[in-house]
Amino acid sequence: MPEQLSTSELLLDQVDLNTFRSVMGSLPTGVSVVTSLTADGEPRGLTCSAVCSVSAAPPLLLACVKQPSATLEAIHQSSAFAVNFLSVDMAETARTFASPVPERFEGVPWTPGKRTGVPLLQSTVASAECVLTSSYLAGDHQVLIGRLVHGDVSTTRVPLAYWRAQFSELRTHPAA
Ligand SMILES: Cc1cc2nc3c(=O)[nH]c(=O)nc-3n(C[C@H](O)[C@H](O)[C@H](O)COP(=O)(O)O)c2cc1C
Repeated sequence: MPEQLSTSELLLDQVDLNTFRSVMGSLPTGVSVVTSLTADGEPRGLTCSAVCSVSAAPPLLLACVKQPSATLEAIHQSSAFAVNFLSVDMAETARTFASPVPERFEGVPWTPGKRTGVPLLQSTVASAECVLTSSYLAGDHQVLIGRLVHGDVSTTRVPLAYWRAQFSELRTHPAA
């Protein structure tokens, strides 16, 4: 039996980075590109798997973005962002928006969101256009809370998944 820590010891206790990554990497996620616009109207975006539904009424979601980030700066400037849920054939888009290239939008078709103008990528499974309602610092990430002001869904495309550092495909459960 490992010795249990006291309450004050627990306050300082934490796992190492590798343990954190392998535990959290065991949770499969979807893959999104979070987009926004700078004050000059330039599109910004990054690949993001830390996206989650928060509340139905009002309709809120969250996205966690590591600092510093050009996309985060644009989100704070414009107070708006979109979460673009990538489809299974968009792994290359996910790689582009996770890479250090400055021109991530080159050759990537997008349209301005109806309500806020933030970039909506084409061929996604769904997109959520959001107004930033709050932003909290949590460790090395900002937790962004967005209120959905517009949403689009494709009923025919299937999502890109991410699990244990690899892009994956969803399979319907045999019992379904
Ligand atoms: C599948 C995948 C998921 C990712 N999820 C996140 C995430 O949830 N939050 C984050 O800040 N970065 C995430 N990243 C890393 C960023 O996409 C990457 O660091 C990017 O270059 C940051 O761009 P920025 O400098 O515009 O912020 C992810 C990368 C990949 C490939």
